[in-house]
Parts: sequence; structure tokens; C-alpha cells
Amino acid sequence: MNRPLPIVERKMLSVPQGEFELVRNPPDDNLQAWDSADEFLLSHMDDLQILSAHSKLLILNDACGALAVALATCPVYSWNDSFLAQQALRDNLVANGYPPEQVKTNSGIDFPAVAVDCVLLKIPKSLALLEHQLYALRPVLHHDTHIAAAGMSRHIHKSTLELFESILGPTTTTRARKKSRLILVERDHSLNEGQSRFPDCYELEVDRCYRIINHASLFSRGRLDQGSQLLIAHMPVGDQYRHIVDLGCGNGVLGIIAAALNPSANLLFCDESHIAIASASENFHHAFAQTRSVEFRVDDCLQTVASASRDLVLINPPFHQQHSVGDAIAWKMFKDARRVLVTGGELRLVGNRHLGYHAKLMKLFGNCETIAADSKFVILSSSKRA
Ligand SMILES: C[S@@+](CC[C@H](N)C(=O)[O-])C[C@H]1O[C@@H](n2cnc3c(N)ncnc32)[C@H](O)[C@@H]1O
Repeated sequence: MNRPLPIVERKMLSVPQGEFELVRNPPDDNLQAWDSADEFLLSHMDDLQILSAHSKLLILNDACGALAVALATCPVYSWNDSFLAQQALRDNLVANGYPPEQVKTNSGIDFPAVAVDCVLLKIPKSLALLEHQLYALRPVLHHDTHIAAAGMSRHIHKSTLELFESILGPTTTTRARKKSRLILVERDHSLNEGQSRFPDCYELEVDRCYRIINHASLFSRGRLDQGSQLLIAHMPVGDQYRHIVDLGCGNGVLGIIAAALNPSANLLFCDESHIAIASASENFHHAFAQTRSVEFRVDDCLQTVASASRDLVLINPPFHQQHSVGDAIAWKMFKDARRVLVTGGELRLVGNRHLGYHAKLMKLFGNCETIAADSKFVILSSSKRA
């Protein structure tokens, strides 16, 4: 069943392929669902005229589905780690007269197991994810596959181009157009050295040693984040914490330590990143094998979690969604946390001192205690009152 489409102003993308109504996810009336790099790629595809109704097209990191919707007349595979991006793609397909399954989606660590005729790649924020994706692309490219990438010029560095050169083959870039650039790559099939460095891992020492595995693109991949470390040092412990949620779990470090300190609790790990959920699951099972009650959910905040069902929610809120910055997601996380808490339940979070989460929590919960602080971070706690 299709979910109801969000009530926001849908903006029109006008490109050589046609006019398309698109919306962002999360909805935002002030921002559009595509950027000039999408327009540049679509105009490039129109200039080339290489796609037929049977050409297999693979699109990576298409934030809201602008590329896939505009090119949906040929078989499109869309790879995106983000659940929100996948929802946006489905909504935008429906809004433009296609069934939601018109584009096949792959996510997380899976790549489509099919040779493709064209690859369009939007440069992701994480260079590690780009590196992983370029290695993962190798097996799906044939001798004539056309490969074009695009991004805002300020996100394309020498190191970005070097990755394409070293993993796929000779790489050129175009001049900037509306502050974006194309990267054009010729696959050199003799270039087969090397493989993805991901997943990699580090050891986390909290009373015992935990092996923390990280797939590409995760937050604080190589070591424990300073904010998470402070929250771990002030982790709630007690018999009342029977149902604990690690919201925006990333590789799961917060929930794993909460589980260790609250041995009878069951855990729910939620993240909108498929890669995060895969990492959290791997890390949790490595730490506790099958001895604990646990669930892993790819979700937009806690939208599928029942109201008044949890005793403790832990959050280290995100500050970025790909290249955009803001606290809209943090606010949504706080509201969802309040909804899923039982009366007397607690939200405990870590935030950058300058982000002013204290005022937000006061507004939402009517109470907010500062549990600890260091030069950069603050640990806040709010409880749900009747
Ligand atoms: C700052 S990281 C924290 C990761 C981990 N909890 C830690 O402390 O290391 C924030 C996490 O929130 C996730 N996230 C962002 N938007 C989300 C949403 N709408 N719903 C659920 N998770 C989201 C990101 O994927 C990321 O893993």
C-alpha cells in the first residue's frame, strides 16, 4: 500500500527529459528535491542519447529520486543507503504517474547483481562510501558501460578524482555549470588491483573489549566519537530500563553498552541507514551472540514504533543529512522519543553544547536536566510526565 504523500508544495524539475513534480524527504518547502548536478547529468544524458528502452541504468546516491524519475522509461536500478531517500523516490515516482516499483532499489551493502549499460553517480558526502561504491561497481560494468558522476564543485576535490582514477580508470571533469561539475570515467578493465577496505573495525574498551565493525559511510567510523564516549560514561542503569531504544544507532555503540549495563533489558536499534543497521546487528551479535532480546529496524526516526512502549531512548542526534545541515531531524527524533516513552520513561542524549537542545527538550517535555558536560558536549535527560 502506498503511504499518503506529504502535504508540501511540490516543485517542478524542468529538464530535456520533461517536467517532473518532486518533493524532498523529509519535506521542506524551502528546499528543492534536486540540485544543479542532477540537471547537469540529465542534460549530459540527453546530449549523448545512448539510452534505449532496454538499456540498464544504475543510479547511485540519488537523494530524492530526481534522476531515476526523469529516466524511468528505461530499466533503472537505484542504490541508496538511505531509507528516507528510498521513500522520496517511491513518492516521486507515484507523483509522476509511475508505480512505486518502476525503479528497482538496492540498499545498504547489496549491489544489483546485473551488468549495467550506464552508471550515474551523485558524489556522496563520505569519501569512504565513494571508495566502497567504486570498488563495488567493478563487477557490474561491461566494456561499453558509460560512467558519469556529478556533484557540486565544492564537494569535488583532487582526492575525489584520484579515487575514480585508481579504482575504475582514466577520469576527466567538465567545467563547472551552475556550481556543479561532471566527472567522466572510462573503465580500464586491466585495473583490477585492490578491494574495498570496508568493513573495517576498531576495539572499544568499556569494562571489557568490544569489536566494533563499521561498513563504509558510518558516523565516527574509525574510533568512538567524543560525544558518544561522554554518553557511555553517563549511561542510565537500573531495573526500570527494560525496553531500551538506540535511536540513530550508527554502528550501535550506545545500545551495546546500554545492554551490557542493563543485563535484563531488551534493545531496539533504529536508523534510517541500512548500512548502520547491518553494522549494529553485526556488532551486537558479536558482543552478546544470541543471548539477548534485540530488534533492528530501518526506520525514519521511530515512526513504526508503538506509542508508550519504551522506558529509555538514547540519542546522539545527526547534524547533517548528506550535504545539508540542520536540526530538523533532531527535533523529529525528540518528538518521536517522547511519543514512544512510557510515563516516567527517560530520553537521554548527547549534543554539541552550541546546538541548544536544552530549550527544545524543555519545550517538549517540560523538564530537562544537565547530567554532565565537557568543553564540547552536554548530556541531557528529560522524563515523560503524565
Ligand atoms: C551522530 S550519528 C550517531 C551514531 C551512534 N548513535 C553513535 O553515537 O556513534 C546519527 C545517526 O542518526 C542516523 N539518522 C539520521 N537521520 C535519521 C532518521 N531520520 N531516522 C533514524 N536515524 C537517522 C544517521 O544515519 C546516524 O547513524
